[in-house]
Amino acid sequence: MTPEVTGFFDDATNTISYVVRDPNGTSCAIIDSVLDFDYSSGRTDTRSADAIIAFVQDKGYTVDWLLESHVHADHLSAAPYIQERVGGKIGIGDRITVVQDTFGKVFNEGTEFQRDGSQFDQLFQEGDSLMIGQMRGDVLHTPGHTPACLTYVIGDAAFVGDTLFMPDFGTARCDFPGGSSEVLFDSVQKILSLPDETRIFVGHDYKAPGRDHYAWESTVGEQKAANVHVGAGKSKEDFVEMRDTRDASLDMPKLIIPSLQVNMRAGQMPEPDEQGDVFLKVPVNKL
Ligand SMILES: [Fe+2]
Repeated sequence: MTPEVTGFFDDATNTISYVVRDPNGTSCAIIDSVLDFDYSSGRTDTRSADAIIAFVQDKGYTVDWLLESHVHADHLSAAPYIQERVGGKIGIGDRITVVQDTFGKVFNEGTEFQRDGSQFDQLFQEGDSLMIGQMRGDVLHTPGHTPACLTYVIGDAAFVGDTLFMPDFGTARCDFPGGSSEVLFDSVQKILSLPDETRIFVGHDYKAPGRDHYAWESTVGEQKAANVHVGAGKSKEDFVEMRDTRDASLDMPKLIIPSLQVNMRAGQMPEPDEQGDVFLKVPVNKL
């Protein structure tokens, strides 16, 4: 089964959102959508989400699923906004509860913030499957970047979120709370054990030395042969050493503070105050 995959690149956060359609029908899933957010003004914008909505409406597609590969730390999810307009169930990994627990503490959320994943329509675990029309998707738990990261294997396409990036860029950072380079290495092996011809669609792209255009599609075979961090038989030890050293030098993503607060609520803003105004918190010296 070869689904039709359309990528939407967000320049502001280097995120790729995907529309994945059942080739034998009009059902589709939207993976890792983006709600634009300007941190300096505190304003949201729906330009990116509207482009995806216009695409599925023009094509006459039915949205079965709004899938999240994980709680993103670099962009806000537009899943609830898209759901209101075109439907679809919002799904994420069941280990979201761990992430909610961690960041519920960081942001000092009260008891009204449920840490049971109930903000989402569906919680997936390893081995679960989902249907997009007549097409089956299989869920792999691929933690390391975060504890709840999933890979969705849909027909011959694997949506790996932030595990692998393009072969010339490597892998995702593992230094967020609950992340682990050792665990990521094992998750990557799980992805690389899929058939060589499996198409790999990554969650971000930042170009790479010698490449001046954005790219997001490769194959398992290409990743195994050439991924600069984990390809060509790189050892776990070498990977962990490289990853941890590199992560220690990285700045926090620009939108981590708003992203976490919104995405751990399945893309909803925190409850408004008595006046109906919505606020996000900035924890000082906590991240
Ligand atoms: Fe991420």
